[in-house]
Amino acid sequence: MRGEAFAHAAYLAYAQEAERTGELDIAELFRSTAATELDEHFTEEAELIDFVRSNTANLRVSIAGETEEHTTTYPGFAEQARRDGCLPAAALWEELAADEGVHAERFRIALFAITNPGSGVRVPVGVRVPPVPIEATEPVCTGQTQENLLTTLRGEAFAYASYLAYAAHARDTGRLRLARLWENTASQELGEHFAETANLYGLVGSNERNLRTSIAGEQHEATTMYPAFSRQAASVDEGEAAGLFAEIAHDEARHASAFLNALVDLVLGGGAETDEAATAADRQPAPDRPGARA
Ligand SMILES: [Fe+2]
Ligand SMILES: [Fe+2]
Ligand SMILES: [Fe+2]
Ligand SMILES: [Fe+2]
Repeated sequence: MRGEAFAHAAYLAYAQEAERTGELDIAELFRSTAATELDEHFTEEAELIDFVRSNTANLRVSIAGETEEHTTTYPGFAEQARRDGCLPAAALWEELAADEGVHAERFRIALFAITNPGSGVRVPVGVRVPPVPIEATEPVCTGQTQENLLTTLRGEAFAYASYLAYAAHARDTGRLRLARLWENTASQELGEHFAETANLYGLVGSNERNLRTSIAGEQHEATTMYPAFSRQAASVDEGEAAGLFAEIAHDEARHASAFLNALVDLVLGGGAETDEAATAADRQPAPDRPGARA
């Protein structure tokens, strides 16, 4: 599930870079693949393990996670970043630690409001923060701090995906304010925390690099990771899980193949100055989108 949440968030970030450079077909491919990772793979795996429970159980798990980040994980990462001399990362984790404390507090109030319906306390809905653009960047830090940035990216992507799943359950059970709280919190985890971390980590590179990274990841999932999960599940008579992992392995193979085809088009179109490419460029000048292709 964590890998699926991370793939979803990374592909949305890669789509931003493809859009910025006018590669709209690549942007669309990243967006549609991102949707499959979340709406199908993450969601189906979540259903398999009954990941989403009651609203109060979901709140308790989230309070524990946010509190851990607020008091331990992110202050520790900030301290390590200061030791590593990477002050922008230290400042980032101080900001995240404070935000997670606010998230934990809102969830605590929500839990109190739901379990004490006569108290007059309402479920808070949180606030929607404007998304931070993710740009193609080089890594700012090295060593353990760089590793901790990757851990943060994975944790924020997972929090985002989990909160959206909790939001759907809250909506289904008529808890509309709680659904908004989950959705607003999720939007901060992805749009601000994941994005700011991605810019420091250097998650996004050129379209070509992003496609190559994605192909490698999809191939690993398709031919190694999910086949191993499927065999493991079959060996303990978990037929449903074995079938799901096998199905996902085939999806990832299709993703790898689609990314590979997009990479071939990109390399063919962007490399040699062929007559055909020159004609196409003459036919459709796009000064604001230098990489745009017909
Ligand atoms: Fe996937
Ligand atoms: Fe949070
Ligand atoms: Fe966060
Ligand atoms: Fe995939």
